[in-house]
Amino acid sequence: MDRTFVMVKPDGVQRGLVGEIVSRFEAKGLKLAGAKLELLPEERVVEQYREHLQKPFFPGLAAYIMSGPCFLTVWEGKGAVAVVRSMIGATNPAEAAPGSIRGDFALDIGRNVIHASDSPESAARELGIHFASGELADYSKIDEPVLYE
Ligand code: RTP
Ligand code: MG
Repeated sequence: MDRTFVMVKPDGVQRGLVGEIVSRFEAKGLKLAGAKLELLPEERVVEQYREHLQKPFFPGLAAYIMSGPCFLTVWEGKGAVAVVRSMIGATNPAEAAPGSIRGDFALDIGRNVIHASDSPESAARELGIHFASGELADYSKIDEPVLYE
């Protein structure tokens, strides 16, 4: 099954959106494979966002991500990476579709509530940055026979 890394950013945690966000992924049928609340060290923020290291917004992005605890999760399911990206919406919440997480809960590109891996390769890389294999739960869920053909 496909796996993706999803992180509620510090603004989402502070605004009490963790439950709502987790509920949306659960209701979609995705399976929670790992979760933890954590204040990220700088090295892991740099690794996570290394493609943006040279961009002018990077210092502000790093300060934002380290401004408080993040809620880190791993979700599994058919097409999980693309499904979750579509559920979080466009990077700029002003352009994110209503019904998406950013479209429903955010206004500013610099405070867009949530991160999700943008490809299966990124998902594998980001999972490796943030989770040890022992932190991921390998289990079957009772709804699988009715979720999948
Ligand atoms: P993310 O990696 O956090 O899931 O977001 P994304 O793929 O939708 O967007 P990406 O291009 O990877 O940008 C990473 C994060 O950097 C912040 N950002 N700020 N001020 C700006 O112009 C700007 N552009 C990007 C956002 O927090 C974005 O989610
Ligand atoms: Mg990104």
